[in-house]
Amino acid sequence: MIITIDGPVASGKSTVAQALAHEFHEFGFYYLYTGLLYRALAYALVTAYGYSEEALVAPGEDALEALLQKGRLEYRFDVGAARILFDGKDITSLLKTEEVDRISSISSANAAVRAAVYCLQQQIATGADIIADGRDTGTVVFPNAQIKFFLTASVEERAFRWRTNQARQGNMVSEDEAITAVTMRDERDRTRKISPLLPAEDAILVDNSNWSIEETITYMAAIVRDRYPDFLAKK
Ligand code: C5P
Repeated sequence: MIITIDGPVASGKSTVAQALAHEFHEFGFYYLYTGLLYRALAYALVTAYGYSEEALVAPGEDALEALLQKGRLEYRFDVGAARILFDGKDITSLLKTEEVDRISSISSANAAVRAAVYCLQQQIATGADIIADGRDTGTVVFPNAQIKFFLTASVEERAFRWRTNQARQGNMVSEDEAITAVTMRDERDRTRKISPLLPAEDAILVDNSNWSIEETITYMAAIVRDRYPDFLAKK
């Protein structure tokens, strides 16, 4: 079974997807954080291949092919958290900075980058029960997913969450700066030609502007149980 959760920046997708993967862990669900793949690729292009922010708009096929070589980017969800290794080194903690937020949103609009990440996503999902979160997991990557959610919240609420997260990493950002950063990233994701951020036609829309993360998880978990009692019982 595949469950997808798409939505804009700081809508709570990753937290909810991870919590659902835990909640349904006994049924063998694996959490696929697709944004982490985009982040890792952008980070690797900059640090290992010397890409500037401008050049990330159109990375060369050579660099992308080299990065797709088996074992170079290794995604793991084995200790309850999503992690990614690059050339054997765990780079996960380096990928949540404001800079990687920005560069990953630039390179992710490129067709060759999306094709590369598409391959990685399909490899990870082969033969597994997956909960995936991202921007196009319900529309493009897993169009046949059994349950698709589109999670959103007001821009003010999302900017507040993003800012709180940045502050936790020691990066103090003003309210206005947070709204600008979140809006710019959403705008890039929404207006790009390939795989723009949008709900799948059959997605369940969830607006959690006024909900806690726990309320959101409870609501979405109940939908999964309601829709697939047999699947969950059988496993
Ligand atoms: O989800 P997260 O914010 O970590 O994703 C980082 C960036 O990767 C996003 O800003 C977006 O541009 C890109 N992304 C994407 N498609 C996905 C997941 C992420 O374009 N499925």
